[in-house]
This record gives sequence, structure tokens and C-alpha cells, in this order.
Amino acid sequence: MKRTIFLFVVALAWLMAGSATSAGHHLYKADVDISDKASLQRGARTFVNYCMGCHSAAYMRYNRMGDDLGIEESILQNNLMFGTDKSGDTMTIAMQKDDAEKFFGTAPPDLSVNARSRGADWLFTYFMTFYRDDSRPFGVNNLAFKDVAMPHVLWELQGIQKPVYKTVQKEDGSQREVIDHLELETPGTLDSDGYQNTVNDLVNFLVYVGEPAQIQRRSVGVIVILYLLVLLVIVYLLKKEFWKDIH
Ligand code: HEC
Repeated sequence: MKRTIFLFVVALAWLMAGSATSAGHHLYKADVDISDKASLQRGARTFVNYCMGCHSAAYMRYNRMGDDLGIEESILQNNLMFGTDKSGDTMTIAMQKDDAEKFFGTAPPDLSVNARSRGADWLFTYFMTFYRDDSRPFGVNNLAFKDVAMPHVLWELQGIQKPVYKTVQKEDGSQREVIDHLELETPGTLDSDGYQNTVNDLVNFLVYVGEPAQIQRRSVGVIVILYLLVLLVIVYLLKKEFWKDIH
């Protein structure tokens, strides 16, 4: 039995180590906290202003977002919704899929559950690693998403980064230039910390959109555990009461 448990633990450790290293190159770490409503509100604003020209979040309704994030109806209507939308509408966009394919070669995907498929750290890294690449249609490329068909929509905030190369030796002895890191070439309107905070809020919002119920789920979870603990005490006392004459 002990041996089985030992083998199980070893296998588990091995699996965890494997998943950590298979992530490949360095990912930024997103600081996700969906209980931080101010952060979610800022993220929602960035999403509506910078992303919904091209991306929908078709599983998300405006009024649900308003309720969850504590946004007043008037602010929701005036600042976060397009004129023709009603508050019960989902966050869809006017761009047609066919047109989008003509513009970009590929349609911008719906972002409702993107944070769940990609993960928060990947998204954070994606927005940190756009760099200038004149060979690409929009003049940018991305370290997390090679040859991406999306322009760097937050470039005014971040500024423009350029790649700095290094030479590496391949196994067959030949040499190759690879990107070592990115360097800010033209500053944006935000400094590095300001931009990272903006991206973090945006990622936080996308994680929330991926599963809006998680805000409630967590608080319900805590209540359920507390309830079970109280019940445990009562049931234990009951058991003592029932069995007290039997010994
Ligand atoms: C001008 C149109 C446009 C805007 C604005 C835009 N995107 Fe995109 N986005 C695209 C296109 C096109 C793709 C598909 C890229 C590809 O497959 O090469 C894409 C891809 C993505 C992906 C990768 C999806 C995946 O998993 O494959 C993410 C994440 C993303 N966009 C997030 C955003 C966010 C967040 C914003 C707002 C800050 C935004 N985009 C603004 C056009 C846009």
C-alpha cells in the first residue's frame, strides 16, 4: 500500500513538472483577481473601446456584466454600449464574418471563452509581446502568436517595441538569429507599469467573461463549506447523544 502511494506521488510530481516545462518560452504572469471590481470595470472599458470593433463576446449580456461588476445602468448605457444595443443584449458586433475574413485573412474569434482556452498568462504575454515587423501586413508580429493577423490595437498605450536578436548555435553547428528580447523603440502614452496594469485589468476582465458565475460560485462555495462545518459539529453531538447509553 505504501509503495502504491509512493508511486502515485512520484507520478503526480512528474506530471506537474512536465506541464510546467512544456509551456515553452517565458510567459508573463497575470495577476488575476475577479473579486476586484474596479479592475474588472477598467478591463471592461478597455475591451469595449479597443476590442469590440472586431471581437464579440457573444455569451455575455450587458446587463449581467453591469450587475456583476457593479456598473450603474446609465454608465453602462452611455459608456459601454453601442447606441443601438439594449441592456439585455449580448455583446455582439456589427462586423460581418465574411468582411472580416477579407480584411484580415481570418475572422477575429469571439472572445467569450478565450481566456479559458488560452489561459490568463498567455493572454498577458500576448499583449506584452507585439513587436515591429515590417514584413507583416499590419507591421507587427507577436512572440506568443507568430504571424498573428491582428494589429497591435494598444500600440498607442504601449508604444512600439523592436526585437533584439542573438545568435544561437544549432545542433548541426550552423548559426541562427533568434529574438532575445524586445526593447521599447517609441514610447506610448503609458509607462511600462501603467501599460502592464491596463493589460492586467483587461485579462482579468476576459477571465471573468470566460465564466461570469465564478464570482458567485466562490462566495456560495465559502458559505457551503461553513454550513457543512457547523453541521459537522451538530451531527457529532447528536452521535454522542444517541450512543451514550450503549457502552
Ligand atoms: C482590427 C480588428 C481587431 C481588433 C480591434 C482586435 N483584434 Fe484581436 N484579433 C483580430 C484578428 C483578425 C485575430 C485573428 C488572428 C489570427 O488568427 O492570426 C485576432 C486574435 C485575437 C486573439 C487570439 C485568439 C486566439 O486564441 O487565437 C486574442 C486573444 C485577441 N485577438 C484579443 C483581442 C483583444 C483583447 C482586443 C482589444 C484589446 C483585440 N483583440 C482587438 C482582430 C482584432
